[in-house]
Amino acid sequence: MASSIKEVFDTGNFRDNGHKLVDLLADYIDQAKAGRDMPVLRWVNPDEQVEFWKNYSVDSNDLTPFFRDVIDRSIHLLHPRYVGHQLTPTAPVTALAAFLAGVINNGMVGYEMGSVSTAMEKLAVRVFTEALGFGSEGDGFFTSGGTLANLTALLSARKSVAGRNIWEEGNDGKQLTVMVSAEAHYCIDRAARIMGLGSDGVMLIETNSDFQMKVELLEESWQKANQEGREVFAIVGSACTTATGSYDNLEAIAGFAAEKNIWFHVDGAHGGPVIFTEKYRHLVNGIHLADSVVIDCHKMLMTQALTTALLYKRKDQSYHTFQQDAHYLWQKDADPEWFNYGKRTFECTKLMMSLKFFTLVKVHGIEVFGENVTVLYDLARTFADLIRLRSRFELAMEPQSNIVCFRLADPGLTIEVQNQLNAMIRKQILEEGEFYIVQTTLRGKVFLRTTLMNPFTTQEHLVQLLDRIEEVV
Ligand SMILES: Cc1ncc(COP(=O)(O)O)c(C=O)c1O
Repeated sequence: MASSIKEVFDTGNFRDNGHKLVDLLADYIDQAKAGRDMPVLRWVNPDEQVEFWKNYSVDSNDLTPFFRDVIDRSIHLLHPRYVGHQLTPTAPVTALAAFLAGVINNGMVGYEMGSVSTAMEKLAVRVFTEALGFGSEGDGFFTSGGTLANLTALLSARKSVAGRNIWEEGNDGKQLTVMVSAEAHYCIDRAARIMGLGSDGVMLIETNSDFQMKVELLEESWQKANQEGREVFAIVGSACTTATGSYDNLEAIAGFAAEKNIWFHVDGAHGGPVIFTEKYRHLVNGIHLADSVVIDCHKMLMTQALTTALLYKRKDQSYHTFQQDAHYLWQKDADPEWFNYGKRTFECTKLMMSLKFFTLVKVHGIEVFGENVTVLYDLARTFADLIRLRSRFELAMEPQSNIVCFRLADPGLTIEVQNQLNAMIRKQILEEGEFYIVQTTLRGKVFLRTTLMNPFTTQEHLVQLLDRIEEVV
């Protein structure tokens, strides 16, 4: 039976269910991070999942069975045998902040609709601009995911470099192009297409044996673009790539961008947080020369999805992207008004992302980011050593980040059969639920792909994974 509005906002059940939920979650966190008596994922095919929920009934007086079913049927990112995709296990304190945000629901479009999170966002952005070495002119904001942040950065780049008012006049028939490694995340290609640049909107630069952009090809590619009538307005460095975790040579790319007077953007959605480490910071040497950088907090920084920082070296550039007249929101459209983030973001209403990040920093300190990244990157190197000890396995490359790709490579079998075998292994591992790994195809070969996202994963778990794969075949 439907509730009345009065019942919807009744806090009696809310209080009781809330207390029980916190207890349930605290137990869950302890159980999951120990990997105790639970698979990492209880595989159910999509249609069965829909069937399960279709006629599901929820008791409003006691939501615990419902919440428990949600947990049981979800993938457990806190589980030490979760070594697949790049989404982070979240710091529990950020979940409390997320819960709070869920109740107060401040929308962030303008200062009045999110005064606290607006101030926190300014402070959170400073954490990044300082670590990037952007200096006092650095600025930026949070936005909903790396995909949207990369699009926003490229819109800023086009606006800044195009030499005409694209916002008013639109594209003018000139073929604008972004240079990017062939291994970059697909969202760069998608952004160019959304911007109306079509398939010639990206110029893919070949990669070397470590899947890094071949920077020695940049000049030649530039000439080729010119001959084809394409005007390069930006170059994107990957820090790191998604499939293999390879870091492009940002110093070389920065030099090229400066020489050609084009925008230098770094997609650091996954690997940007090495700026918080001592040990791995060298991987992004030259990042301080970028015009813009994207960093996902929901990948390596233990914060809920989606929380993405888009950082600009020059504050003014962050204001140029959108010039929307919105008199119902802002009084003076010409005034930048740092505190009305909606003027700079793609979103109108925006989640209180900064509250979660700010809470994490205040409770645990910035140092915890460096520790998390270092632990996970170190573990990837240990994992590569374990893989090398087994002759049946082949590594795609020495890991540069916490992403490790490897495969079972029996030289007696054709590549096609090897590919089928590795795809079969991944499917079986997924369906068994003991481990969560994914797969990728690199230069025609199917690889098992792992991302070590969980600081509770140990060498023993990784040995068990390799043992299991060898048993499967
Ligand atoms: C390098 C890189 N850029 C961008 C993205 C997209 O980020 P999001 O999933 O936050 O949209 C990803 C996601 O894996 C990524 O690895």
